[in-house]
Amino acid sequence: MQIAKTLDELRNARQQFNEPIGFVPTMGFLHPGHLSLVKRVRLECSSVVVSIFINPAQFGPQEDLVDYPRDMGKDLALLKACGVDLVWAPKPETMYPGGYQTWVEVDRVSKPLEGARRPRHFRGVATVVAKLFNAVQPQKAYFGQKDAQQAVVIRQMVKDLNFPIDIVVCPLIREIDGLAMSSRNVYLNSNQRQAASVLYRALKKGQSSYESGERNAKKLREVIIKEIDAEPLTHRDYVSVAHPDTLVELDIIDQDALMSMAVYIGKTCLIDNFLLRNGNWHTGQLTGEPEG
Ligand code: PAJ
Repeated sequence: MQIAKTLDELRNARQQFNEPIGFVPTMGFLHPGHLSLVKRVRLECSSVVVSIFINPAQFGPQEDLVDYPRDMGKDLALLKACGVDLVWAPKPETMYPGGYQTWVEVDRVSKPLEGARRPRHFRGVATVVAKLFNAVQPQKAYFGQKDAQQAVVIRQMVKDLNFPIDIVVCPLIREIDGLAMSSRNVYLNSNQRQAASVLYRALKKGQSSYESGERNAKKLREVIIKEIDAEPLTHRDYVSVAHPDTLVELDIIDQDALMSMAVYIGKTCLIDNFLLRNGNWHTGQLTGEPEG
């Protein structure tokens, strides 16, 4: 496994790779959710490139940039064991040289949900992903359904800017009690960790309500909200039932839908979602189980 830290090292390494090149952008502190993306690339592409870069531009001034967990040694060992060909770990000054002033803004789909709480977040994500795509020049790039809105923003950017890259969105990987795996779960103490499974339970309630025939999106939101509010350690940010491509809130569910939420537990904000597409629910995978 090669490790590139400069653009020259990346370009030299890239020239030797067989195509298609599959790419997984990450911020490190890797868990089985990240690794599921890497394993999928190994199956589908000739070469596997993973980036590790904690992108300052996507953190707000009050957010956890300084405290964001990191463990480069462990990450490299995990990636090597997955058969990764190249890890691209640029320095902040490579990605944002002095005097930096160019941004990629994906307009409408960046505004609601996560974008409402984190106003410049998706500008930072779209910009860094565009720069990573320019550097790595993959044929395929893999993202997790965990960050549903991020996947929508990236798909829109790739379409609008004519990037010749296929975007593949992979299932959400969960802990055994349903909590969506996230690098930020380490912030939870043991009481908070126990309470955190309420997000999954609430989405399950929403799903069963839909399956019992409920098509009124407001009613579905109410079912989810009731479950979350029953857990005293939670503080809701949003609960949404929206169109999965435009992210516009639905009145009636007569088509596909993205049921998503952001919930604070203490200072940690957790996100989760279930996706309804063509009549099938994508609820993610509990660790070790196939998606059902
Ligand atoms: P990060 O949070 O490190 O996530 C990297 C990729 O792993 C994202 O596509 C994310 O959706 C996916 N992922 C995280 N947890 C997952 C889970 N439990 N199941 C499935 N996939 C999961 O997302 C980012 O980094 C950054 O915004 C980035 C795209 C790298 C740009 O800086």
